[in-house]
Amino acid sequence: MTRRILVTSALPYVNGHIHIGHLVEYLQTDMFVRFLRLQGHEVAFICADDVHGTATMIAARNRGVPESAIIAEMGAAHQQDFADFGIRFDHYGSTDSESNRASVHAIWAALRAGGHVTSREVTQLYDPKAGTFLADRFVKGTCPKCGAPDQYGDSCDKCSSTFSPTELKDAVSTLSGAKPELRSATHHFVQLEHFRSFLEGWVGGGGHLHPDMAKWVKNTFLREGEPLRDWDVSRPAPYFGFEIPDAPGHYFYVWLDAPVGYVASTRDWCAKTGQDWTAWWQGGKAEIHHVIGKDIAYFHTLFWPANLHAVGWNLPTKVHIHGFLTVNGEKMSKSKGTFVRARTYLDHLDPAWLRYYYAAKLNGTAEDLDMNLGEFEAKVNADLIGKVVNLASRTARFVPQLTASYPDDGGLFARAAADGAAIAEAYERLDTAHACRLIMAAADRANEFVERAAPWALKKDPAKAEELARACTVSLNLFRQLCVYLAPVLPRFAEEAGRLLNAPITTWSDAQRPVTGNAIAAYQNLMGRVDAVKVQAMVDASKVESPAAPAAAASSLQPPASSPSEPLAATIAFDDFAKVDLRVAQVLSAEDVPKAKKIVKLRVSLGSLGERTIFAGIKAAFPDVAVLVGRKIVVVANLAPRTMSFGVSEGMVIAAGEAPNAFLLTPDAGAEPGQRLH
Ligand code: MSP
Ligand code: ZN
Repeated sequence: MTRRILVTSALPYVNGHIHIGHLVEYLQTDMFVRFLRLQGHEVAFICADDVHGTATMIAARNRGVPESAIIAEMGAAHQQDFADFGIRFDHYGSTDSESNRASVHAIWAALRAGGHVTSREVTQLYDPKAGTFLADRFVKGTCPKCGAPDQYGDSCDKCSSTFSPTELKDAVSTLSGAKPELRSATHHFVQLEHFRSFLEGWVGGGGHLHPDMAKWVKNTFLREGEPLRDWDVSRPAPYFGFEIPDAPGHYFYVWLDAPVGYVASTRDWCAKTGQDWTAWWQGGKAEIHHVIGKDIAYFHTLFWPANLHAVGWNLPTKVHIHGFLTVNGEKMSKSKGTFVRARTYLDHLDPAWLRYYYAAKLNGTAEDLDMNLGEFEAKVNADLIGKVVNLASRTARFVPQLTASYPDDGGLFARAAADGAAIAEAYERLDTAHACRLIMAAADRANEFVERAAPWALKKDPAKAEELARACTVSLNLFRQLCVYLAPVLPRFAEEAGRLLNAPITTWSDAQRPVTGNAIAAYQNLMGRVDAVKVQAMVDASKVESPAAPAAAASSLQPPASSPSEPLAATIAFDDFAKVDLRVAQVLSAEDVPKAKKIVKLRVSLGSLGERTIFAGIKAAFPDVAVLVGRKIVVVANLAPRTMSFGVSEGMVIAAGEAPNAFLLTPDAGAEPGQRLH
């Protein structure tokens, strides 16, 4: 049955660039949309920039430009970033549109008519120099509880206590440095408690939320005996937003109009494409799916459904909530170079790699996910290059054409075709991690087939031409089947695969039928390997200088201007070489050595040979040692242990050049810790 499905991602704030944390969400949503389309459903993928609020107003003031200039500039940058990651919206709007104003007015009128609005005086800190009321994060001062200086207006990061900005001692406005005064103004509130029984029903039933999230919302916000707090939805002038129609001089708080942007952007898209927007948002049979991060669950599971309920528009069918991204186990950090902008990533790495890595990590729950840069490299290379690309690269060049009928493959194609239902079910739950696991299991089976059939050996014997054609037909079909399943994650790759076999991938059911008889196009490399040097270059380029972490002429990845050529060493006999036992090692942990600024302490695994501690003089090339964790490297494993002032080094790391221009050697995917180099 064909479904009509409206899918949204949260609307990114206009006051910052898209970074790899945001991309978790936009890529997750794009994969979901592409999956639904492959299934033949009618899908609208809608987004917009979220532009209102104090931050935009202040940024415009500081730069001496109108808000519209910031909106135009940042909107274009956001859209370019998304496009370059293959995220394809049907419409990308902006919350300052006239359609949003009209939609917000409709909701406001309904809230008023329903008797859900109340007004009262609110006393707040006011910046007399900047001429504006101060949101909590624009006030800094001394913690009233522990006396820690330089704390924001709502909480102390030293003693974790929370308070109101008026309790802060020696408060100053971060906008102007002025001492804030207390002033009062009228604020308008939505009485959420009026919607309690509706919200309890909506959160608790109907499968709108993942069961864990439904429980969390209920236990956190809908506790029995605790009335829902009135929601302050207005701000007195000056404020960058929509003026409240029946309260001149007062503006809607940004979070009131932001989700309405989902509707407005749909309206603009419908106007552009000659559709009736009400078919998506009022009555009709369209589903609405929002994809958001857990930080904004509160707005999407309480305020937004309440507003929709008040105005009588369609409620979300599902709110899909994901967790937060950490990098190398920590919050993204500007000084460590792990706060990576989408653009910086694109300057160094292939977007397909991030699409796959996130797909392999996201499991449809709100658990946080960690991007370990070593694992990123290893996983993409092992799965995409080692298991998928390999199937095509090892067979596509041997024969010009697929056989006329599909050969006996021992049931491999049929088995992976049967997996299609379970893979689809995982995509539908946004559990792409499970989908990827099933796909890679099928890839493993396909690779075993190729290993056994050994087309490279058949190629050498003219009498085995038919057997060769059969082996290649099977492996290319198994490859294509994987590409169908991966198409939501890797759309460009799937397109290339379609071209290779002259059989474009257009629907999910393309994985159910082998392709036969087609000519095979000239094989071109489908995807490059992740290169740790480029990953490091991205990290270096993301580093913001701070006294703690100088943006180290960062492992200057260009070769030194005049690469001193080292004279060749004297000739040795093979036996001399054989004395050196070189092994593949995997880095388990990497630490700085406080006493030695040039040294990194590594704990490495040599597989069944056990673990070693190695001190390596590569710190200057790796200011952030965490990027080493997970990497496979090469070490001299039989060097006599060396005692240093800070410990015993049980081996030596192999690198080209010397720090800061040291380049570590990384084996191809598949090499295991402990393997000897010959
Ligand atoms: N403007 C609001 C959303 C309004 S929706 C009507 C907003 N914008 S945001 O730019 O801060 O975030 C946009 C989305 O990106 C949110 O869903 C947020 O959870 C997500 N992420 C931002 N940083 C993130 C990570 N580090 N990790 C995962 N998702 C993150 O909130
Ligand atoms: Zn404190």
